[in-house]
Amino acid sequence: MNVGDTHYTTIWLNADGRSVDIIDQRWLPHEFRVVTLSSLDAFATAIRDMWVRGAPLIGVTAAYGIAWQMREDASDAALSKAYDILHETRPTAINLRWALDAMRATLDPLPEGERAAAAYARAAEIAAEDIEINRAIGKAGLEIIRKIAATKKPGEPVNILTHCNAGWLATVDYGTATAPIYLATEEGIPVHVYVDETRPRNQGAQLTAWEMAGHGVSHTLIVDNAGGHLMQHGMVDVVFVGTDRTTAEGDVCNKIGTYLKALAAKDNNVPFYVCLPSPTIDWTVRDGVREIPIEERSGDEVSLVWGKTAEGKVIQVRISPEDSPAGNPAFDVTPARLVTGLVTERGVAEASAQGLLALFPERQAAE
Ligand code: MRU
Repeated sequence: MNVGDTHYTTIWLNADGRSVDIIDQRWLPHEFRVVTLSSLDAFATAIRDMWVRGAPLIGVTAAYGIAWQMREDASDAALSKAYDILHETRPTAINLRWALDAMRATLDPLPEGERAAAAYARAAEIAAEDIEINRAIGKAGLEIIRKIAATKKPGEPVNILTHCNAGWLATVDYGTATAPIYLATEEGIPVHVYVDETRPRNQGAQLTAWEMAGHGVSHTLIVDNAGGHLMQHGMVDVVFVGTDRTTAEGDVCNKIGTYLKALAAKDNNVPFYVCLPSPTIDWTVRDGVREIPIEERSGDEVSLVWGKTAEGKVIQVRISPEDSPAGNPAFDVTPARLVTGLVTERGVAEASAQGLLALFPERQAAE
C-alpha cells in the first residue's frame, strides 16, 4: 500500500541482497522508520519485541531470518539452531511455525552450498504468496460488503468494526481483515470503519487508524469497550477481524478482546467474519481454548503507554501505581459457534471442521 506517494510493502530485501528492511512499527503513527535487519539476533528481536507483528508478517520475517543465517553458515546445526531461536520468539501465531517448516522443507534436502540462494528464493516466494492470498481474501470479503451495501440507501455507508490491526502492516501487503475494506473503497462502495484495540498495545489506535487515514477510508477510533454499545444501536453492519491461529474446527485465536466483540456481535445479530490466509489454520489443533498457547506479555504494556507530547517527542508514561502488578494475556479464543464465516483465499467457509474441509479437501486425506 502507499505511504504518501510511495508504495511500500512491510518487508523487503535490502539493496545489499542479503539484509532485510522492515517498517519498524513501534513508532507508528508518529514516526515512519525503516530498519535494516542484518543478524539472526536482529530478526529474532524484531519479532519478539514487535518491531514487526501480525501473524503473516511474523512468518515472512522468520523465513528471511533463516535465509540470512544460511548465508552466514548453512550447516544442519546452524539451520536447526536458527529454527529454534526464531520459533521461540512468539508462541501463538501459527504462521511462524508454518513459515519455518516451509523453509526447512526446502532446505533440508539441499547440500550446504545451495542452501543460501534457495532460502532467499523461498522466503521471497512466501512473501509474494502472502500478497496474492490477501488479494483473494479481499475479493471474497468484498462480496460480503457488496451484499450489505445492496441493502442500504444510496450513499449510506456499510459500517464495519475491526479489532486490532489485521491490516497491510500485519501482512506483507493489503492485510487480511482490511483487504475487503480496501477493495470496497477502490470500487466506490461507501464504508465507515470503527477501529478499536485501544489497549493493551493500542494497535487499532496506532496502526489501523494510521492505515485508514493514509488511504482515505472514513473511520472512527473507539475504545475497546464501545463496540457492544455501537452494535446495540445498529451502528455496526459487520465485523471483520484477523486471526493468529485457527483450529481445524474453526475456533479462532486473535488479539485479546476479540472474543468480547464476537459475544456482542452474536447478541446483536451482527455478522462476525474472520479473515485468514490458509497458513493460519493449525490442522493439528481442534479445541482452541484448551490447546492454543496464549502468549503472556510483559505487564509493562498495560502499566505504561506510548504517546506523543505537544512538543512532538514520543515518550512512554506510567498510568498505574508503581507497585500494582499487571497481567497481559495477548490473545483470546473465539469459539467457532460465534463466528459467522471464515474468509479465506478460497472463499468463505463455515466455521466448522466440515466447512474448512470443504474448502481445503486435500486436508481430508492428511487428517
Ligand atoms: O498485538 P498484535 O499486533 O500482535 O496482534 C495482531 C493481531 O491480533 C492480528 O489480528 C493477527 O495477527 C492477524 S494479522 C492478519
